[in-house]
Amino acid sequence: MFFFKAFLFSSFLFGIYSKSIQNSTNEEQDSTFLRNEVKFLKERLDNLTEIVEKGTKNRQKSVLYFVRLSSKTTLNINSIVKYDKVITDEGGNFNPGDGIFVCPVTGIYLFSWTVFTASSKIVDTELRVDNVIIDSMYVYIGTSSHVPATKVVLCQVKKGDHVWIQTSAHTTENVFETPTASRSSFTGMLVHEN
Ligand SMILES: *[C@@H]1O[C@H](CO)[C@@H](O)[C@H](O)[C@H]1NC(C)=O
Ligand SMILES: *[C@@H]1O[C@H](CO)[C@@H](O)[C@H](O)[C@H]1NC(C)=O
Repeated sequence: MFFFKAFLFSSFLFGIYSKSIQNSTNEEQDSTFLRNEVKFLKERLDNLTEIVEKGTKNRQKSVLYFVRLSSKTTLNINSIVKYDKVITDEGGNFNPGDGIFVCPVTGIYLFSWTVFTASSKIVDTELRVDNVIIDSMYVYIGTSSHVPATKVVLCQVKKGDHVWIQTSAHTTENVFETPTASRSSFTGMLVHEN
């Protein structure tokens, strides 16, 4: 009887003991798991922070301009059109003094120019990149009053290249008109660096 009681008692003690071991083992496992999880999340967060910071630093510079010719202008052959009214010029790469855009980064650019001329007059222009003719536009509207003409161009431009609109070698009297508020204009923007 005594042994039986002792056995029961020790079984009881053993029960409590093993349970508490199990308990503390569970807690240890839990806290180890949580510690690893926090470590993983912290590393993940550090990695993401690094990616975001790098992305912000390397974000492509904005390069774009829109300029207009503020008054009626008549140009002879081979004359650069000096767009004098800057509406916007992010990056400050267009010079209204000489009408030339200086390319700040190598990439694909979009250029577009719009011309107004007068009845029976002609405007014959070229888009030149580093003095190479990329596209040209011959505008003659006959006896119509004022019809705009526009060209849109996509091309590769190297850093430092000069880009401008000039009259051709053939037409001696290019009349840029200013019907009411309408003006001839020239625009360009960086599509992407490469
Ligand atoms: C831990 O042990 C106590 C006492 O034996 C018990 O009441 C409790 O339910 C146990 N907890 C867990 C999470 O096992
Ligand atoms: C964090 O970045 C390193 C290096 O790229 C990589 O080895 C590790 O697995 C990344 N950690 C996490 C949690 O994404």
